[in-house]
Amino acid sequence: MNVSDIQPTLAQAIELKKMRAIDERALRTLFLEARTANGFLDAPVSRELLERAVEIAELGPTSANSLPVRYVFVQSPEAKQRLNPAVGATNQEKTMKAPATAIVAADVKFYENFARTFPTRPEMADRFRAPEQAEATKGFARDNALLQMGYFILAARALGLDCGPMGGFDRAKVDAEFFPDGRLISLFLINIGYLDDSKGFPRLPRLEPAEIASFI
Ligand SMILES: Cc1cc2nc3c(=O)[nH]c(=O)nc-3n(C[C@H](O)[C@H](O)[C@H](O)COP(=O)(O)O)c2cc1C
Repeated sequence: MNVSDIQPTLAQAIELKKMRAIDERALRTLFLEARTANGFLDAPVSRELLERAVEIAELGPTSANSLPVRYVFVQSPEAKQRLNPAVGATNQEKTMKAPATAIVAADVKFYENFARTFPTRPEMADRFRAPEQAEATKGFARDNALLQMGYFILAARALGLDCGPMGGFDRAKVDAEFFPDGRLISLFLINIGYLDDSKGFPRLPRLEPAEIASFI
């Protein structure tokens, strides 16, 4: 008899599955104590750590494994100056001071990778490629890239980083400056670093679970 022949009972299998739940400390890092960052300690964030966050976040699911998100990490003073005119006034100071600012974008030609990323049905790319589908394809890219942005924020938190996502910027200006060929469309910016606790503000109230979830 091989070890691989030993099958757990259903009850044992369920117990093993339940043991995957993360502990309180990890929950604090990801959700319970994690806050949106409004200001950062004056400390750099390494490229390796950002790459690791990108790598981990990419394991989060997307429709047809489409993986449309793209990131441009703006870190150098020169690149920050290119970004600055597009950033809303109330977001400017913290963005210029943040160790890194990610431009989170969607690749509207994500389907070009389908032979590699969706080899079971690569022909699905044709549906997205059709000119009359352009708007729907763009929406699909946007929806799934936004989902991936959420995974990225959690991956960054899991690595001990803090994030400050921002919608207060001019997308058209960012696209013209950073993505002139139109293949990428900007979605949000995320300041990334280590939160300066002195720049915190009280947690805003959340809705009650019963207000937002029903069980039928
Ligand atoms: C997609 C997105 C866009 C946001 N845009 C801005 C912004 O432009 N400027 C800003 O100061 N905060 C912005 N926020 C911060 C939210 O107000 C903040 O995440 C929310 O109040 C929850 O804060 P908490 O994580 O500290 O509980 C944004 C957050 C998200 C997720």
